[in-house]
Amino acid sequence: MKIRRAQQSDLAHIAALHAESWRDAYSDVLPEQYLTDQLAVDLQRHWRSVEIRSGDVVLVAEDDGIIGFTAIWCRFEPFIDNLHVKPSKRSRRIGSALMKSAVSRLIRAGHRTAYLWVVESNQRAIHFYQKLGGVCTDRELKNLFGHRVPNVKMVWSDITILC
Ligand SMILES: CC(C)(COP(=O)(O)OP(=O)(O)OC[C@H]1O[C@@H](n2cnc3c(N)ncnc32)[C@H](O)[C@@H]1OP(=O)(O)O)[C@@H](O)C(=O)NCCC(=O)NCCS
Repeated sequence: MKIRRAQQSDLAHIAALHAESWRDAYSDVLPEQYLTDQLAVDLQRHWRSVEIRSGDVVLVAEDDGIIGFTAIWCRFEPFIDNLHVKPSKRSRRIGSALMKSAVSRLIRAGHRTAYLWVVESNQRAIHFYQKLGGVCTDRELKNLFGHRVPNVKMVWSDITILC
């Protein structure tokens, strides 16, 4: 498995993996009809509008094709917007490897903190982030393509603990 920076040309593949991951992980959060009929369209539209800037950290994990990705926007404090591993490839340390690789790049760029929002019912992901040193600090309803879903904020006040 190789981890590399994403290119603009990867974004359609990232959108497809993002939809596959949400369909698997968010079946208790978003309506089934939305997940099957509309989600892939919304995510393709979303990722088509994404511009990866030089300070951002957007990585893909690849073996035969893209099997995971993370997107961290560094316009202000680093915001971990996405971390997804293909459902059939989970629990093989790919998510941890993506986080660690991304954080080393953040540290080299001079960052020391990061945060993300995760769906509150996604206990597996919350447990995963806690094991990596993240701390829950806040709770808010977030709008996921027109659906209001409780989320918790996870914060790393010192990302060097991830390395
Ligand atoms: C969360 C996610 C990115 C983790 O990536 P991963 O490659 O599966 O995780 P890793 O193999 O690196 O596992 C590290 C830890 O995650 C947790 N974890 C992984 N698989 C798990 C499972 N099947 N059940 C419960 N916890 C699990 C465990 O804490 C695990 O540590 P352990 O093996 O020592 O118990 C991935 O499971 C995923 O894509 N989930 C769906 C999308 C998602 O929830 N993304 C986060 C949204 S903010």
